[in-house]
Amino acid sequence: MGRYNTYQRLIFLYLSILLLHNRLKNVEGLACNWGTQASHPLPPNIAVKLLRDNGFNKVKLFEADPGALRALGKSGISVMVGIPNDLLATMASTVTAAELWVQQNVSQYISKYGTDIRHVAVGNEPFLKTYKDRFVRSTYPALQNVQAALVKAGLGRQVKVTVPLNADVYESSDGLPSSGDFRSDIKTLMISIVKFLTESISPITFNIYPFLSLNADTNFPREYAFFPNGANTGAKPVVDGSISYTNVFDANFDTLVSALEKNGFDASKIEIIVGEVGWPTDGDQNANPAMAQRFNQGLLNRILQGQGTPRRRTPPEVYVFSLVDEDIKSIDPGKFERHWGIFYYDGAVKYPLSLGNGRELVPAKGVRYQAREWCVMSNQAAGNGAATWAESVTYACQLADCTSLGPGSSCAGLDPAANASYAFNMYFQRMDHRRGSCDFKNLAVVTRIDPSRGSCRFPIEIDTSRHELPRPPRNSGASEAKRRSLMVVGWVAMAVSMVFS
Ligand SMILES: *[C@@H]1O[C@H](CO)[C@@H](O)[C@H](O)[C@H]1NC(C)=O
Ligand SMILES: *[C@@H]1O[C@H](CO)[C@@H](O)[C@H](O)[C@H]1NC(C)=O
Repeated sequence: MGRYNTYQRLIFLYLSILLLHNRLKNVEGLACNWGTQASHPLPPNIAVKLLRDNGFNKVKLFEADPGALRALGKSGISVMVGIPNDLLATMASTVTAAELWVQQNVSQYISKYGTDIRHVAVGNEPFLKTYKDRFVRSTYPALQNVQAALVKAGLGRQVKVTVPLNADVYESSDGLPSSGDFRSDIKTLMISIVKFLTESISPITFNIYPFLSLNADTNFPREYAFFPNGANTGAKPVVDGSISYTNVFDANFDTLVSALEKNGFDASKIEIIVGEVGWPTDGDQNANPAMAQRFNQGLLNRILQGQGTPRRRTPPEVYVFSLVDEDIKSIDPGKFERHWGIFYYDGAVKYPLSLGNGRELVPAKGVRYQAREWCVMSNQAAGNGAATWAESVTYACQLADCTSLGPGSSCAGLDPAANASYAFNMYFQRMDHRRGSCDFKNLAVVTRIDPSRGSCRFPIEIDTSRHELPRPPRNSGASEAKRRSLMVVGWVAMAVSMVFS
């Protein structure tokens, strides 16, 4: 290739690296959590397509959900599969129990369906303060047994263990990140677990929730919960030595970095995953689409730019919480708990998000719904006053999800009759429009006119009966990944040949 001079070759090399770099960034993709605690879950095949259409190529499951694991087979999406806390004691009891779990919930899906399982999450926030000490003794032995079982199954290299922990396992005596250390009651245990994971070349995982920081404390500076937008830092920075923190995510993550370093670990050499981070859209005065959009767009921008924190320049892998809303999750933590989805329960877009390269969020396709019918208070009954329907509303809300009716929520502004209609409709949808499920002692009637108003949506549920048979996994994902890697190999070859010819 004598026709190129050195200068031209350098330009070629530069362009190739640029292309390769952008390509790799795309190949890396986004990661998110997919929880399935829904009365009418989005059919697995549709959810997998939704993930792929939006550039998510890593997903975290809270348990070995067979439908999800099958649909993820040969999808080009890699998987972290969770072991629920309730199984920790069993996993801790014997290696055999862990081997059975690995056989049934990992090996089987890899070999039968081609599911790309890369991580097993042992427990979910097992050391959360509100659990008291319930899982403190079982978690570490469970982790060791699952790791041993993976090695025994010949998956030691391919599948890594981790323990997703709540950020309450570390703290700072004076509130500054530089004073970070592990919580004193579990400090020795934390050191053992981090040591075990680093020795097994496995990641450590922490869930960080700026929304909860804002929600827990009325004096928390609102702007500090969000990421700064360019030069507009918004919040008054928190000064920690030579570092000025502009947002609580950075400060929280760096508290972890300090905790690791205080205990002799080199945080730059440990793989750190943020297992959950996100913002809910309903069920609380701080939970709405505008705030969620602001937070999640700021988060996505940092992920796409590969931005780390002041104390650790290498960005962590970040799993957004969450894919879709889940209407049967426990609301012990708050009514917002059922509204963490980037998408509604049915994969509809809640608010726009830029995913980089000019791409915008796209909704789920092919969802089949119940008939376009809602259940509302009859005009006649509406005149009779709230006392006549209070009992029926309570009954409806015991079974159906009424979290959007709470103070500061999307349906809080409804008048008492519409409020009752909302509850009736949620029950009617929950019961799949079953005969007699829109009656409430003659108070309610079925309507074809959408009663939604303002921010308050009266949903129609997914018709899960028309989605029952999951189609066999398709090959397109795997071939797409292969095509991409071949392109990358091509560019490398081109760059190398241009420089050395
Ligand atoms: C596999 O995972 C599922 C879902 O968490 C669980 O119900 C089942 O008991 C697991 N299998 C074994 C052998 O532990
Ligand atoms: C609406 O219904 C909810 C749930 O039953 C109830 O807590 C709330 O007080 C009602 N609000 C009005 C304005 O009737």
